[in-house]
Amino acid sequence: MKALIVYFSRAGENIVGDKREIIEKGFTEIVAEKIQKITGGALIKLEPEEEYPFGYDDCNKRARKEYEENILPVVKNLPASIDAYDTIFLGFPLWYRSYPRIISSFIRAYSFVGKTVKPFCTNEEGTFGIMQLELQSAIKGAIVKDGLAIHSYNVNSSDDLIEKWVKE
Ligand SMILES: Cc1cc2nc3c(=O)[nH]c(=O)nc-3n(C[C@H](O)[C@H](O)[C@H](O)COP(=O)(O)O)c2cc1C
Repeated sequence: MKALIVYFSRAGENIVGDKREIIEKGFTEIVAEKIQKITGGALIKLEPEEEYPFGYDDCNKRARKEYEENILPVVKNLPASIDAYDTIFLGFPLWYRSYPRIISSFIRAYSFVGKTVKPFCTNEEGTFGIMQLELQSAIKGAIVKDGLAIHSYNVNSSDDLIEKWVKE
């Protein structure tokens, strides 16, 4: 298996449980790095050309606009090709009960025919929900495996769960 771990994650002010917190390293990034260690794959963090605001409320405003208007943010570091990889671990935070639009920017940039995609997310709910179906229909031609959802405050105590899912 030649694996690519590609993800989006945002540091800054967030709401964890019912408290506002300043996050130094995004929760999804922590999970992505764990997956990289297990697989030895290549790791890419998607960087938007226009950075998301540090403040939660401003970020929320932009995320909402992108979601409602289906805006595809420009990614400044899209790889030229993903042909070399057969398995793609695709990670993101849940935003508006879906994947952030920057993930759509990634999905639309490539052909996924014949690839296996393993989606993972961190969120406040701990479930993957209807995103499974959304991703299956968005990533044409790929086998989209069951997604892994981790509650943001459990990312550091989920190593066994992550390893089991990676190896499924
Ligand atoms: C703009 C925004 C929208 C969010 N929407 C949801 C949501 O709909 N459901 C949910 O469970 N969590 C939601 N969250 C919480 C994030 O999914 C959660 O904090 C996640 O772990 C953040 O990952 P990151 O640190 O890698 O960016 C939202 C957070 C932000 C900033």
